[in-house]
Formats: sequence, C-alpha cells, structure tokens
Amino acid sequence: MDDDLSMTSLLRRIDAICRDAFGAAGYDPASGEVRLSDRPDLADFQCSGLLRVAKQHKLNPQIAADAVMGHLADNDLFTVEFARPGFLNFTVSDASLIAQVARALDDPEAFLQRNENPQRFLLDYGGPNLAKEMHVGHLRSCIVGQALKTVLSFAGHHTISDVHLGDWGLQMGQLISQIADERPQLLQGEGTLAMADLQEWYPRASARSKDDTAFRERARSATAMLQAGKPEYVALWQKVVETSNASLQRDYGRLGVSFDQWYGESRYQAALDGLVARLVEEGKAEPSDGAIVVHLPEAEKLPPLILRNSNGGYGYGATDLATIEDRIEQDHPDIILYVVDARQKMHFRQVFGAADQCGILGDTQAEHIPFGTVNGTDGKPFKTRAGGVMRLHDLLETMNRAARDRLEAAGSVPTEDHAVVAEDIAVAAIKFGELSHDRESNYVFDIDQFLQFEGKTGPYIQYSCVRVRTLLENAAKDGLQPGAPTIMGTGGRELVLCLDEFSAQLNRTIEARKPSFLANHVYKLANRTNSFYQANRVLSEGVAPAAAASHLALLRVAMQQIELCLRLLGINVPKAM
Ligand code: ARG
Repeated sequence: MDDDLSMTSLLRRIDAICRDAFGAAGYDPASGEVRLSDRPDLADFQCSGLLRVAKQHKLNPQIAADAVMGHLADNDLFTVEFARPGFLNFTVSDASLIAQVARALDDPEAFLQRNENPQRFLLDYGGPNLAKEMHVGHLRSCIVGQALKTVLSFAGHHTISDVHLGDWGLQMGQLISQIADERPQLLQGEGTLAMADLQEWYPRASARSKDDTAFRERARSATAMLQAGKPEYVALWQKVVETSNASLQRDYGRLGVSFDQWYGESRYQAALDGLVARLVEEGKAEPSDGAIVVHLPEAEKLPPLILRNSNGGYGYGATDLATIEDRIEQDHPDIILYVVDARQKMHFRQVFGAADQCGILGDTQAEHIPFGTVNGTDGKPFKTRAGGVMRLHDLLETMNRAARDRLEAAGSVPTEDHAVVAEDIAVAAIKFGELSHDRESNYVFDIDQFLQFEGKTGPYIQYSCVRVRTLLENAAKDGLQPGAPTIMGTGGRELVLCLDEFSAQLNRTIEARKPSFLANHVYKLANRTNSFYQANRVLSEGVAPAAAASHLALLRVAMQQIELCLRLLGINVPKAM
C-alpha cells in the first residue's frame, strides 16, 4: 500500500485493498467498492459487488467470494466474512482503530483526504436589495453559501464570493422620488440619511407606486435620469448605497458571513447596450414585439430570456448575462454557484441556457443551488409575532436575548464574556438550525427548539465540545495528559468509525453542494463523543493512568474534529457554557 493512502481514512484504505483483490481475482475492480455497512451490528464496512461478479462470470457468489478472499487474507487491518447472498463484511481490528487515533492525535487532519483536482469556484450567495433590510429569506443564501465556500477552500479549491447587491433598477427611482418628498435637501447634498429612514420610506414608495399613477411616472423618469447619470441622483444613490451597505455589513458580520467582492447589479449597467447590440448583430438575440429576447431550444420548453423590454429598459436577465461575462473575464471560474431561492429556478435555467447559447459561458459551468422556504412554527412563511416581515437584525437580537436568558437560567453569571458567549450560542442556533436541514426542503424556524442545549441543535454540539475541553483541562490540573491510545473502551469503536467518516461526508457535502451532510455528521459525532464520555471514567478513583491517558487521547481527537466541523460550518465554540 502506498504511503499516501496509509494516511487517509480506514474506509478509503479498505476500499482500495478490496478493489485490488477483485482485480487480482480476475474480476472488475469497480465491483470491489466498499462502503459503510448497512448492518453496523454485523460489520463496519461492506462490499456488495459479488452478485454482479457472479452474474458476469456465471459463478456461484460463494466461489467468487473465496477467490477474492484469497487475496484479502494476511492483513492486520480487518477480518472479512462472506454473507449471503453476495456480501463481504469487514470488521476493522481494534489495533487498526487504535493506530488511527494515534495518527490523528499528531495530525488532526489525518482522517482527511485532500483534493487532487482543485477548481476555481465563484459563489453568489448574497443578493440583498438596497434600501430593504435583510430578512430571514436572506439567511439561507448566506449561511449555506458561506459554509460551501469554507468547505470548498478547506478541501483545496480556489474560491471567490460576490454579494451581488440588488442596487439598481426601478426600486431606486421609486426611492429617489420618495426622498424628494420626504427630505428634499438630500437632493442638494445636504442632511443625513439613516437606515431607519430608508426602512420607512422604501415601503411607502413601493405602496405609492402601486396605486398612484403620477408617482409611478415620476419614479420611472427618476430611474431613467439616474441611468443617464444625472449628478444629483447619482450622488443621492451613492448615499443610499453607503447607508445600506453599512447595515448589511453589520448583519452579515454578526453571522460571520463575508464576501470577497462587494459588487452590485449597477456594476454591469454600462455594459448592457454593448452586450445586447453585439448579441443582436451576431444573430443570437432578436427583436420580438418591441423587446429583444434570446430564444431557448424548443426541447427545453422555456420562455425566451428577455434582455430588453419594449420600453427600452434592461431587466434582471440581461444583468445576469453581463455579470457572467464579467466574472469569466475577471476571475476565470471553472464553476459559478448561485445560492438563490428555489423560486428562481426557471430564471436561472433561462439565463444559463442563454449564456451557453450566446457563447458567453464557454467552458465555465453555472449551477443554481436552490433552497426552500423558512417557515414559522405555524407552518407558514416566517413572520414576526405581529405578522410582519422579520428583519434579520431583529431576529439576531431576539435570538441573542433568548440565549442570554438561557445562560442565566443555567446559573451563568452575566459578565462581558457572557455577552460574547450568548452571541456565539445565538448564531450557532440559527446556523445549525439552517444547516442541519436539506437546503432543498422547507424548514420550521423554531427559536425555542434551536436554542435547546439538548437534541439536534447548534448549542448541543457546542456544549459537547466545551464539556470535553473542560475535562481535558481538569485532567491536566491533575497531571493527566492524553497519551498513547491503547484501548478502545466502551463506545470507542463506534466513535472512531464515526471519526473515520469525516472525509466521505466532506466529499458528499461538496458533490451535492449540501452542508447538511457535514452538519449531520457533526451531530452524530457529538452523540458518540458524549456516549463515550459518559461510559468511560477518566478522573475517578481506581482508573489506571494508562487507561485514562488513552481515553483522553480519543476524546481529544473527537473534540478536534467537532471543532473542525463547526469551524467549516461557521460556528464558534465558546470558552465556557
Ligand atoms: N437580488 C435578487 C433577489 O432578491 C437575488 C440575486 C441573486 N443573484 C443573481 N445573480 N441573480 O431576488
């Protein structure tokens, strides 16, 4: 076995050995694939390729098994048995589990399999609209997107993220017209503008646009003048951008979400005339009832992508095309991921289809990473108690207050640290609540449940980690350090096998673009760590020092992996809880 492989997970090593054995027996090595056992009560890993081999070679599966097992004898990693109708069941030896712990103690990334084929990813997981404060709907995009980015870079890929602000279009003209009524001196460059003003004015502006024709007309012409570069409007728009961005950065910052590029839709507006003219000239876009559109292949059954409407205005689709062109030119991504609400599925199919057809995408792959709705405990889209849209800022405050109450109820004294801990718990509750659900399904945002210190929650996992860390500290005070792993103890086998799954779960997270695989892994790991912690005494009378040192070693390895998983998911572990 080569050195490189000996550093990876047990699963990967046994998989490689088994494939080789199939090959050596004259069968297709691919049939030798090994995975986690469906029957953990019988075995740790299984290979189910014998039936296929038996069929291909017209053999009894038992005969094929004997041939393969002849090449599997002689190793101290595992024992293997044939099970009807066509399985090989692998049981890892205690010695190899212990060796794996020893390796991980020196190198916390020992269970990891590095990526051999790094790619360039550009991730679009912001999309907040200026002047409107962020709400829970924006949570999914940024939490899932940030976790994907962190996991991808950890696995060795190159990543760039862009916030892609909704900072252009009719909504800006509406807002400017409303400001002209509310605080006209702002148009002369005087007076101050606060986020609170925008929150009040923007809803008024959009309500007026619905039933006030004159206002609607003003808003349309303000939009046109802004686009034409009228200096007072541009200056005011810049002020709106600054004010909004400060508030966005505050909320994203609290969530540990950041972007490498802070671009907005406005960035691409100047390119639209040229882009659309070129596509028309190349015959890729064409006039249709006064508009300009890109027709998509008949078989796709998609409506054409509208680049310019009959009023001459450019829409969301044209901006997205220009964005792709700019991103490819500037950053050369292999893959662009759009972490955006599932309701935009059709939009992205149209945009990607058009970008491909117009030769804009080239070799770059574009993928929509859709997510479902966040519901309240009543099963309807999440609202405030009063029935309004819950602003992200208020949600964070509510969670923070609830976390403080929780800590105080647990008898923790309020100090400065206390505030930091409460914030870490609040953010963990929100993020794990999100990340433990498959992004494609809807989930219920249940503040009380998310904050529980028991059950499938962020705080539970943080607590599991803090508890082991405290044990390690107390042991150190008694002169006990993690030492050579020598025994498995009760539940040790289950714990090490779970640690061993990390690499596979990380790969699944990347392949499916679903951090829920990693979140579910760390939950299982926390459970097994807690079981082991409870079943194996370390600091009690009569525990042999070598046994205590061995248990501490395994607990440390487990704690390090929990911390690593939480870090990848963007969750901090507080000092104490
Ligand atoms: N601002 C958009 C919205 O609120 C989301 C933008 C998503 N990203 C994109 N490239 N289209 O719907």
